[in-house]
Amino acid sequence: MRPMDQAMSKADLSSAQSNAAPRLVPVELAADRYDVVIGSNLASELVARLTAIGLEAPRRVMVAIDAGLHEHEVDRWIAALEAAGYAVHRHVLTASEHAKSLASLEGLLIAMARAKLERRDALLALGGGVIGDLAGFAAATYQRGLRWVQAPTTLLSMVDASVGGKTGINLAMSSDGHDVRKNYIGAFHQPALVVADVCWLASLPIRQRRAGLAECLKHGLLSGGWGDAELWDWTESALPRLFAPDRQIASDLSAELMTELVARNVAIKAKVVATDPHERVPLGGRVLLNLGHTFAHAIEPMANLSPDGDPSHAPLHHGEAVALGLIAAATTGARAGRSPSDLPARVRRAVAAAGLPTAVAGLPANDDLIQRMRADKKVMSGRMRLIIPTAKACSVVADDIDPRAIAAGWDAIRV
Ligand SMILES: NC(=O)c1ccc[n+]([C@@H]2O[C@H](COP(=O)([O-])OP(=O)(O)OC[C@H]3O[C@@H](n4cnc5c(N)ncnc54)[C@H](O)[C@@H]3O)[C@@H](O)[C@H]2O)c1
Repeated sequence: MRPMDQAMSKADLSSAQSNAAPRLVPVELAADRYDVVIGSNLASELVARLTAIGLEAPRRVMVAIDAGLHEHEVDRWIAALEAAGYAVHRHVLTASEHAKSLASLEGLLIAMARAKLERRDALLALGGGVIGDLAGFAAATYQRGLRWVQAPTTLLSMVDASVGGKTGINLAMSSDGHDVRKNYIGAFHQPALVVADVCWLASLPIRQRRAGLAECLKHGLLSGGWGDAELWDWTESALPRLFAPDRQIASDLSAELMTELVARNVAIKAKVVATDPHERVPLGGRVLLNLGHTFAHAIEPMANLSPDGDPSHAPLHHGEAVALGLIAAATTGARAGRSPSDLPARVRRAVAAAGLPTAVAGLPANDDLIQRMRADKKVMSGRMRLIIPTAKACSVVADDIDPRAIAAGWDAIRV
């Protein structure tokens, strides 16, 4: 874990603190229900909520810890659990796609077994989406299912990965790492509780924070169908305060604003997931959350693509590819006559205001890119399904888009 560094001083952290009551977003599934608690300084809130859901001390809690977190902050959370009487065990994991592997899963399961975790005990995932996906899958499989709690520490995991119960790891098909199937093994296993403390974001590198914001922009483009048609406008107006590109890490962080951002985005994800917990609705539900992703998945594996042209910044982060994908999807939609004609420019402006890339150098030819899109997991019976943003902050699934409109989408993000 990282010791306290210069990027996050105590003064920075205190700017992230607030005494406001945490926000609560329920995730209501037919067979399951849990709360997402959002706010700042939530370590003691976590303890109170564990008790409220029947995971009271004394119990064993295995904490799967993201190695990128600051040690003293992790210690604070663990101290809160120990003070309440929990027997806490730690297992530190490196958060990388490489670590989202069978070997890491095995390591965590062995640590859980050595700690003698029983089915009445719990696993706490303290980290970003990698740790959440891996720990959630370990919880799904350990003794055929253990209750688990997520404490997401990246913006992406707060607004997206921690909600909805998708857990899993990558499958390496060859030892040279050339054929890695992302999220190929997994399970739906809902957490018992999610505690999203925005104070974690103070130490998150700004590039990671921006990457998370891409998913917020995505939610804004489909939120009209899920009860918050104002989300896009609100996000657009909040962007300068959230992520001014030239500001220092953390010094621009307002806990209230962040809490609002996370709560509104979690509310959208919670509603979508509640209607389609297992992603079985073909033309709505969870598939809509793939807005921008069919474009993004085609370029994310390309090792040479850089968000700013600097080769040392390659490859693109997932959120950067999604941001480009949102511009491409809006342009495709406008060219196909499905999206408002001014939408591509609006999306591009918002992506730029978030400090995310609006175009990328080194893309292959359009035919090649369209071929790659056809390999996406969302292709059904050979037909490519694209999510297209329409009017009034809604998005739809379309499987009849003219390839020339898709090519226009790619051209819109090509340097
Ligand atoms: N389950 C889902 O529904 C879902 C949805 C979206 C994405 N995902 C998965 O999430 C993963 C990406 O997650 P992510 O974007 O959170 O990135 P991540 O988990 O890879 O973390 C990114 C980096 O930030 C570091 N980090 C985490 N929190 C930090 C903090 N507070 N301060 C400083 N550093 C910190 C990590 O150590 C890592 O280096 C992918 O594997 C993706 O497949 C899952």
